[in-house]
Amino acid sequence: MGEETTTATIQESDVSDETLSNLLHEERHFDPPAELAKNANVTADAYAEADRDRLAFWGKQAERISWAQPFDEVLDWSNPPFAKWFVGGRLNAAYNCVDRHVEAGNGDRVAYHWVGEPEGDTRDITYADLKDQVSQAANALTELGVQTGDRVAIYMPMIPETVVAMLACARIGAPHTVVFGGFSSTALSDRIQDCDARVVITADGGYRRGAASALKPAVDEALQKCPDVRNVLVVKRTGQDVEWTEGRDLWWDDVVGRQSVEHAPEAFDAEHPLYVMYTSGTTGKPKGILHTTGGYLVGTSYTHWSVFDLKDDDVFWTAADIGWVTGHSYIVYGPLANGATSVMYEGTPDTPHKGRWWDIVEQYKVTLLYCAPTAIRTFMKWGSEIPAKADLSSLRILGSVGEPINPEAYMWYRETIGGGRCPVVDTWWQTETGQLMISPLPGVTSGKPGSAMKALPGISAVVVDDDGKPVEPGSGGYLTLTEPWPAMLRTIWGDDERYRDTYWSRFKGLYFAGDGAKLDEDGDIWLLGRVDDVMNVSGHRLSTTEIESALVSHPKVAEAAVVGAKDADTGQAVCAFVILREAAGDGGDDIVKELRDHVANEIGKIARPRQIMVVPELPKTRSGKIMRRLLRDVAENREVGDVTTLADSTVMDLISDNLKSGSADED
Ligand code: WTA
Repeated sequence: MGEETTTATIQESDVSDETLSNLLHEERHFDPPAELAKNANVTADAYAEADRDRLAFWGKQAERISWAQPFDEVLDWSNPPFAKWFVGGRLNAAYNCVDRHVEAGNGDRVAYHWVGEPEGDTRDITYADLKDQVSQAANALTELGVQTGDRVAIYMPMIPETVVAMLACARIGAPHTVVFGGFSSTALSDRIQDCDARVVITADGGYRRGAASALKPAVDEALQKCPDVRNVLVVKRTGQDVEWTEGRDLWWDDVVGRQSVEHAPEAFDAEHPLYVMYTSGTTGKPKGILHTTGGYLVGTSYTHWSVFDLKDDDVFWTAADIGWVTGHSYIVYGPLANGATSVMYEGTPDTPHKGRWWDIVEQYKVTLLYCAPTAIRTFMKWGSEIPAKADLSSLRILGSVGEPINPEAYMWYRETIGGGRCPVVDTWWQTETGQLMISPLPGVTSGKPGSAMKALPGISAVVVDDDGKPVEPGSGGYLTLTEPWPAMLRTIWGDDERYRDTYWSRFKGLYFAGDGAKLDEDGDIWLLGRVDDVMNVSGHRLSTTEIESALVSHPKVAEAAVVGAKDADTGQAVCAFVILREAAGDGGDDIVKELRDHVANEIGKIARPRQIMVVPELPKTRSGKIMRRLLRDVAENREVGDVTTLADSTVMDLISDNLKSGSADED
């Protein structure tokens, strides 16, 4: 690990100067629209109610869920940090997301307006359709020998079958692990191995940027390293040619299509594993975050209903990929548990033109839009005249997630997309938290551009100093969560020790999120980004160590250091410094391209460094730790800061001489 590990103090360079200065001068705030406040699902009383009795509060929210057997106790926290929520309760997640809405007479309600990337390629899927399809898929998985507790890997584009596959797993109690379709075969095989999945569900491909983009070849390659996988179910999406392994590979349509649409859901324990989602940590190996059933459904459905003020006629759109936690919680489980109507879009925002999102909002009269600041900044760059062409008057509330939203982007979102009438909810949470944690309530909070404001009712977030003591308003520190919450991770798959070490050891009795935060004079929370070796690129978490390992696995590379440098579009960008092996000489003309492609192959395109600098030395402390702070100065074109702890003070000169002589590369 680098020097800025979780034990270091927050580095100035981690914190955008812009954010800080805005924080000092930010006096704008926006009260909830009167109509919205009057009819809001949640009023200010919720905070007081939860403060009076937090567990009773969550017990009450659990009534949103249908329990096959009621729980005896809201929380068992007798063995921290291992929580058990809704002890003794039994339920089926798929029943809660699908069947009960059909039973309640809402079978005709649209669960998803699905929009494929090719224009005109759309499908509306009702709750009744979903029930049939999920039942068929559950029967198919059972026929393939998948049993309760077995893990199933899902590597899919953004198509309805992805949701069906997840719910089918949930229905039979087989935890799924969805691997983002943009990840490489290596990332896929690592995850399949780590959770020992024996069945993989994939597609021939999906549509991205106007073309069919293959998925199956990555599965074929990954499975060379996963001999225990016995079956691959393949959805035909694009019709492109695929390699076929007889006996192992099966077409989804053949196997699922012939199944009965009847399937009796079995009730599982509230703590039965629902899914494992891998996320980057401060070491190279991704962490399998385990979420369980009862608490997760309560946490996601309550926050979806309260933060988006969900009404019966709302059309909700989370514009994120299902392969991330945002998709799991707010495309699939939260909205479906609430019986909501969602939009799901397969492709990129600029296909076939840069107004695609706004056409979708107009066509489906989307009322609630949820996306990442990186998307908002991209739209800003493309120009306000593009969304101006569409009718966006259906929108009521705008959400933001994944990284701090800078006040400029917040204002643009509010004014240009929301027409000045829609509250912006900046929602802070993590793969680990499962549910929204810090956010304005649109009918209650007077929002400030750039602030996630306060912990939601029933959640307690405290910003602490190095000693774990709460900081005063006006000061910065580390964001911690002081009480367990329903959708919290239960452990890291197969590694309780790492779970404890990573999240619960830095501050005694507190969950440390890895983020820096500041309280303003009103006590409202401003997120300041990661304080560990995790970068946030376009709202996606990437570990510096993971990318360093990928670089060092290239035969020409001796050593590598990766930093996240500020980037106007993506929040942070991956910048790598590499020392080549002697035998590699200067690496050849294409060394930078070669290494960038190598990282894309090892991890996925999202991890491909924006910039690779070949250097003769790296700055290290006397104890041999790479001083990332200095490298970040270089990557961000700043004056290099304090070098007194460097073992060799000439190193930085060497690096800058080298960069001047032209080995830096950017594209
Ligand atoms: C960052 C995504 C500021 C943060 C749901 C966190 C945010 C990490 C916000 C989790 C926000 C997420 N403001 N920062 N509203 N939301 N983050 O696990 O650093 O992919 O720790 O979950 O994203 O990323 P993850």
